[in-house]
Amino acid sequence: MKKKLIIANWKLNGNKKTIKKKINKLLKSKINTKKCTLSIAPPMIYLHLTTNLINKNTNISLTSQNIDKHITGSFTGEISGKMLKDVNVKYVIIGHSERKKYHLENNKIIYQKIKTCLNTKLIPILCIGENKIEYEKNKSINICKNQIKYSIPIKEIKKTNKIIIAYEPIWAIGTGISANINHINNVYNFIKNYVQTKYLHKIKKIKIIYGGSVNIQNIYELINNTNIDGFLIGSSSLITEEFIKIINIITNKK
Ligand code: PGA
Repeated sequence: MKKKLIIANWKLNGNKKTIKKKINKLLKSKINTKKCTLSIAPPMIYLHLTTNLINKNTNISLTSQNIDKHITGSFTGEISGKMLKDVNVKYVIIGHSERKKYHLENNKIIYQKIKTCLNTKLIPILCIGENKIEYEKNKSINICKNQIKYSIPIKEIKKTNKIIIAYEPIWAIGTGISANINHINNVYNFIKNYVQTKYLHKIKKIKIIYGGSVNIQNIYELINNTNIDGFLIGSSSLITEEFIKIINIITNKK
């Protein structure tokens, strides 16, 4: 089985003490980090602490929850791609629905942030997904298509670039109930075909992952009934014991 990408999105949670505890528990656990690609997205102020805690040999990488489109200069409060690289960040979450809702990020901003990621050799994780009304009106595929189309800077990308698309139906995030398998498969198949025909001649690799209430109750079904390349996990990644069990279920799949 192909290695699954597992990203823990810790959002705005934790402090120095709890983050040290979480990482230590993960490192001491018997998770098989060679059978998956595991990455942690702590709050950005703790990226440096996390990079120091993760031993270079553990196969665990670092994800940033945000990036500024600028590289350097008078942009108070921002963090650049170069700075993220400096603390060993590998992936950057871009366009998360919470940033769209609370920080008014739109496709234009997302497009520029992805461009910055690619220019600084960071791998962008572009979040896409429909809201509840759009889902009920059967518009999921169209919404996802447009979000991809207007967010990926196709003219700027080079053959060596990698991009990850995280399909996260907004109505499933943080609710405890993930989207059903049929729906995930429909959207996944559409996205896969769409990016293959439109982008694959330009980009080396595009992976499609799922996020939205992935937990210990549904991971078995998700891993066995979809071809999803990985998972973006919020709430369940905050409870380390649960997160470890989820990783074990994913890596034990034959
Ligand atoms: P959730 O969050 O797992 O708590 O639904 C996922 C996300 O927002 O990336």
